[in-house]
Amino acid sequence: MKYNALKGVEDILPPDIFIWQRAEAIAKSVFSRYGFSEIRLPIIESTDLFVRSIGESTDIVGKEMYTFPDKAGRSITLRPEGTASAVRCYVEHGLNNLPSPQKFFYTGPMFRYERPQKGRQRQFYQMGAEVFGSAHPSIDAEIIVMLNNLLSELGLKEVKFELNSIGCEQCRPAYKSSLTDFFRSKLDQYCPDCKNRFITNPLRILDCKVEECIELRKGAPSVTDHLCDACRTHFDELLLRLNLMNTKYTLNPNLVRGLDYYTRTAFEVTSEHLGAQKAVAGGGRYDRLVKEFGGPETPAIGFAIGMERLIALLKDSEGAAAPAPKVFIAALGDEADRQASVIAEDLRKKGIWAELNYSSASLKSQMRKADRLGAEYVFIIGENELKDGIVQWKNLKTGDQGQYDIKTTFEVLIN
Ligand code: HAM
Repeated sequence: MKYNALKGVEDILPPDIFIWQRAEAIAKSVFSRYGFSEIRLPIIESTDLFVRSIGESTDIVGKEMYTFPDKAGRSITLRPEGTASAVRCYVEHGLNNLPSPQKFFYTGPMFRYERPQKGRQRQFYQMGAEVFGSAHPSIDAEIIVMLNNLLSELGLKEVKFELNSIGCEQCRPAYKSSLTDFFRSKLDQYCPDCKNRFITNPLRILDCKVEECIELRKGAPSVTDHLCDACRTHFDELLLRLNLMNTKYTLNPNLVRGLDYYTRTAFEVTSEHLGAQKAVAGGGRYDRLVKEFGGPETPAIGFAIGMERLIALLKDSEGAAAPAPKVFIAALGDEADRQASVIAEDLRKKGIWAELNYSSASLKSQMRKADRLGAEYVFIIGENELKDGIVQWKNLKTGDQGQYDIKTTFEVLIN
């Protein structure tokens, strides 16, 4: 029986995995400079957690969740994103009692039952960051600047930062009703999903990707014209700070994001090199969620990067360079082969990556293998070398060669 990975679910193999590891290492270093600590969150949560936070009117909750009953009949969902879990964790562990703001980051797989296509999987990885306990626009600016720095340190060019404020509980009702008035006149021409959204959450129509709906909603009232004074001041201060820190952004009044928990600041990073699924990261404020999950009033903000999309962009710009062994030991004959294992162990103890052939083969074939692996040095031991107590060496990059005494150290060669 031959098995394949499920549709929309991918293995991550060498050499791509080296780009992933490099990206994760850079991200961790950037996060630590800004005071973020790692949290590891569970992959399964109770379904209700996502329904209540992401919102019933969203595509994620409406169509895309992997939900199943466990053996005791509880409804469990494979997490479609990390923010809801981070909020649950914050409230459950009373992290509000620690000095504010608390800053966390996480990485891991997320699950959405979407139609797989380029840049869209059913299992995909996110690297997310969340800050709890500050309503100040300085934290909005900091998190956007941090994401910007992270992407540029990774070597991403030509990304666009789209930014919007979607208001708060105070100003959104008036905005919603003026949107409703606008959509009502041509409602029969919108897609069936948008007709539903009109009833459940008209703001979602601004997020619809159907061509006709995009055309129809041109000229819709803009949220930024409906912000209350507090939201306006918050947004203006954020823009001022981004300008001060030379962070480029594009204002997009139609940016509402695909999840319902957002308030005020919302942003998305897009790249034209990604094709139809062009968002590489997205985030925003969610000032009500901690309270809704039974915690104290705690403003919060965060973002998540889609790792597959990030890696696709990095692969285009840098290629995947696989690391290679420093030394390949070619052995000819049983005794030499044993000696090769001893030398390899000695090298590994010194922190050097050494490879062996693991089966008897001609010198020519072993040299070919060393070359294919990209080894820097080949050590050669045969019967003659054993008799003379030496090892022959060759640097495959420079062509230099020589020999050393088997009893002495060869560290001089490999510093
Ligand atoms: P999101 O926009 O749903 O936000 O997802 C963030 C990123 O995950 C997207 O920009 C995209 O790169 C990637 N992504 C989403 N769905 C897929 C998919 N099916 N296949 C591949 N990549 C995908 C959130 O999840 C929020 N939790 C972000 C956040 C954190 N907001 C505040 N804090």
